[in-house]
Amino acid sequence: MQQDIDRILITSRQIADRVGELAAELAGKYAPAGEEQSGELTIVAILSGSLIFLADLIRRLPMRMRIALVTVSSYPGTSTESRGARLFEQITADVAGRDVLIVDDILDTGGTLRAVRAELARRQPRSIRTCVLLRKPGKAPPDVPADFVGFDIDNYFVVGYGLDYDGLYRNLPDIAVLRPELYTSGPGGDRA
Ligand code: IMP
Ligand code: MG
Repeated sequence: MQQDIDRILITSRQIADRVGELAAELAGKYAPAGEEQSGELTIVAILSGSLIFLADLIRRLPMRMRIALVTVSSYPGTSTESRGARLFEQITADVAGRDVLIVDDILDTGGTLRAVRAELARRQPRSIRTCVLLRKPGKAPPDVPADFVGFDIDNYFVVGYGLDYDGLYRNLPDIAVLRPELYTSGPGGDRA
């Protein structure tokens, strides 16, 4: 696996530090110090890319929360270009009147967050915010805001720390760019 990596963009150490900072930001928003038992947070995490980020983030959030998982796919196979987000099953969590935080690995074209947000908004939650580990600011559209962002990155197709290419490399501890010849999506993909 290591021989497939062209270079590391963000090290596991940098990720861990930033996840701690994000958790502090979130705690400041949802569980301010000195307030009486604040309401519960409902986290809606988008699989599969957010699984490692989610696991690390929630263990640093010392507050009452429920976690719902939703599977969305927009990158079939070896494509590195979004083909439109598809929700694979209905979100069953009861979010009416609740504070909802959508957690995803990366905000790219925004299609995924837009689809999940719209689905949740129909159920009258008290609030909806979004938290992504990575954002590609060059592509992220203004109508899909990310309220909490770990890192802004250039328009690379990255893998590791939960992010995959063709289902592989999710278990890399760092966030990395693969050797260019491994991306086989061809012209039109946003290969880096
Ligand atoms: P969007 O719908 O275009 O914003 O894409 C978001 C989803 O596409 C993320 O949840 C990822 O699963 C996937 N994605 C976008 N960019 C990358 C990348 O650079 N590497 C791996 N997956 C990506
Ligand atoms: Mg994803």
